[in-house]
Amino acid sequence: MSDSKMVLFIVSLFLISSLSHNIAVIANDNFYQDVDITWGNGRAMILKHGKLLTLSLDQASGSGFQSKNDFIYGKFDMKIKLVPGNSAGVVTAYYLRSQGSMWDELDFEFLGNLSGEPYIVHTNVYTQGNGNREQQFYLWFDPTAKFHTYSILWNPGHVVFSVDGKPIREFKNLEPLGVPYPKSQPMRIYSSLWNADDWATRGGLVKTNWSEAPFISTFRDFGANACVWSNGVSSCNVTSSNSSSIAGDRREWLSQELDSTGQKSLKWVQKKYMVYNYCTDTKRFPEGLPLECTVTTK
Ligand SMILES: *[C@@H]1O[C@H](CO)[C@@H](O)[C@H](O)[C@H]1NC(C)=O
Ligand SMILES: *[C@@H]1O[C@H](CO)[C@@H](O)[C@H](O)[C@H]1NC(C)=O
Repeated sequence: MSDSKMVLFIVSLFLISSLSHNIAVIANDNFYQDVDITWGNGRAMILKHGKLLTLSLDQASGSGFQSKNDFIYGKFDMKIKLVPGNSAGVVTAYYLRSQGSMWDELDFEFLGNLSGEPYIVHTNVYTQGNGNREQQFYLWFDPTAKFHTYSILWNPGHVVFSVDGKPIREFKNLEPLGVPYPKSQPMRIYSSLWNADDWATRGGLVKTNWSEAPFISTFRDFGANACVWSNGVSSCNVTSSNSSSIAGDRREWLSQELDSTGQKSLKWVQKKYMVYNYCTDTKRFPEGLPLECTVTTK
């Protein structure tokens, strides 16, 4: 290789590495590369060359995994097929969570049920260690028959929980009004399958039937369009004049708001499928509803 070719080669290597650093897309579509199995003693399995992951629960143990990366903002998609048949007492959880006692957390929890009875999608938002923001929904399909996409969008403006692209819940950044918002603690994706028959199904009335074990939930197509946090730096803050326009195109989720279709979907789901909303539970909050429930914006 001539000197000038060598220089070109090195320059292009540098460009490629700064580009890949800057484009905030972390979706290898391969569970071997994206997650670590963290517990369950062999009950969690990565299959099909990394394309599929199964979590399993029996009377001895559940199982779980977590993302290899920490993130600060992102749009996270996962296709999940939930435990079929009699899944009463069994919970599949899929959530983002930071560390420490003042943690932030964004939860999807799927509460199983007897065969033919509806699952409940339980959601919660923790900021600085405080949750108590439950909203629950039925689904408009059988979540055990096929894979469906469950997404969490987390950007500086809001958090949006979506199912098959339909927003079901929005938590706005109301920090100026004094409601803490998750914005400075990096979070990781976690997922687990566990026994929660003390509360999950009909408030704990229906117990897990262990003779139907093992219970299995299946995952595929994990996608993270996100800012990776590493050594105190967000990948979205790394600036490079050569790649900013490309990276910018890919980062529309960072400023994305609910459009009119999203607003409509939110209203439709909340009207037809909402089971519980902390924001209307005046018995629970005799001193007054949480601030974010009383503010009307737009
Ligand atoms: C289970 O089915 C019962 C009866 O249809 C229903 O009341 C309940 O909300 C369903 N879901 C859960 C998780 O309990
Ligand atoms: C538990 O499941 C077994 C096997 O399907 C069934 O025979 C049994 O009646 C179930 N037990 C209860 C309490 O429903």
